[in-house]
Amino acid sequence: MNLCMNVLRKLLLSFIFTILYTAQGEAQQCVIIKTDGGQKVKAPLGLPDLEVPKDNLMTPEKVALGKRLYFDTRLSLDDTVSCASCHDLRLGGGDGRPVSTGIKGQKGGRSAPPTINAAYFNVQFWDGRAPSLEGQAKGPIVNPIEMGMPSHEVAVEKLRDIEEYQKAFKEVFGGIFPFGLLTEDITIDNVAMAIASYERTLLSGNSPFDRYMYGGEKGALNPMAKMGLVVFSGKGGCALCHPIGPDSALFTDNNFHNLGVGMDRPDPDLGRYNVTKQEKDKGAFKTPGLRNIALTAPYMHDGSEPNLEAVVEFYDKGGRPNPYLSHAIRPLDLTSTEKTALVEFLKSLTSSDIPEF
Ligand code: HEC
Ligand code: HEC
Repeated sequence: MNLCMNVLRKLLLSFIFTILYTAQGEAQQCVIIKTDGGQKVKAPLGLPDLEVPKDNLMTPEKVALGKRLYFDTRLSLDDTVSCASCHDLRLGGGDGRPVSTGIKGQKGGRSAPPTINAAYFNVQFWDGRAPSLEGQAKGPIVNPIEMGMPSHEVAVEKLRDIEEYQKAFKEVFGGIFPFGLLTEDITIDNVAMAIASYERTLLSGNSPFDRYMYGGEKGALNPMAKMGLVVFSGKGGCALCHPIGPDSALFTDNNFHNLGVGMDRPDPDLGRYNVTKQEKDKGAFKTPGLRNIALTAPYMHDGSEPNLEAVVEFYDKGGRPNPYLSHAIRPLDLTSTEKTALVEFLKSLTSSDIPEF
């Protein structure tokens, strides 16, 4: 009865008008579901449909423009670095390095988190300092050790000189005649909106875990991975912060915790504290989602754990003791089989449908 009402309500509210398109002839299809007054991106198995912000609705043209910008090294000062340099979709959306390298080989202090599924986070960056994908995308362009543009104005001026962008921005953001003639189509906000729209298509689920958990395929996980799931949700306490829901799993509580990573350094990165200035947030970092985790070594905000076995050892020992350690982190006393099982489970989170490009 309840289910029936739900289905009815859904049918009434979201008269399903879908735009089906293939961005620039790529294999991945992005389906936008129109809801009353808004949009959602249809998610793959195991992920919830993604809400699109009302002030940045998606169109195929906007996504295609965002994609072009994401891969364009001209967004950097010396034409050497694009978003994709540090967020390579072939590497699960990270860069495979402990910390990132920007223009002129400069190294930052943190590891590049994946852009794939980043749209599900309430806030962006390891310390959550950007409120949205739109807000995030402007940062790296002017970060001196990432893309190194002296200012957003300089970046925008450079794009205004490129004919293909003049056309594309006009098509996507062009004002309504005659006032459109008086406004600029290429602005840093529009750059960020286009890139964010593209990032909302980078959704990846449908892993063996999803097919087992949400697709009714009991054979999708091998016995070791099944045991790992039990440890993950039980004795290991992992699901406390990397939750698994009844219909979908983001593997992040969208919250910040101190595990002690890097806290033994003389001048540790204080993470969330830099944003809130609250004592309790010292050394706390955002819980990463764990999808495609096997593709994005090394691990943790500083890339200090080389592989999944090392991560599991780290948790088994109870993290790294420090005054701000999360209460949920304690020695686990796992057997060697349980450790192997956890790693096997983490490997089952790799999707067969990583977005292509
Ligand atoms: C030089 C490498 C580099 C470049 C270039 C770069 N990023 Fe990043 N990106 C990083 C690093 C490192 C972080 C984490 C920084 C932090 O948390 O303080 C990050 C964080 C992010 C996040 C947050 C993800 C999360 O889980 O919180 C997103 C989204 C993102 N970048 C998108 C982009 C986009 C879009 C571009 C291009 C406009 C870009 N990045 C360019 C290295 C890079
Ligand atoms: C108290 C919350 C909490 C618990 C419990 C927890 N995690 Fe985490 N996990 C985090 C946070 C926060 C990070 C990032 C920490 C950092 O970089 O400083 C993280 C990082 C990770 C990473 C690395 C992700 C990446 O992209 O680098 C893996 C893998 C992981 N956790 C798996 C597990 C497993 C397996 C367990 C159970 C044994 C577990 N976690 C328990 C909060 C938690």
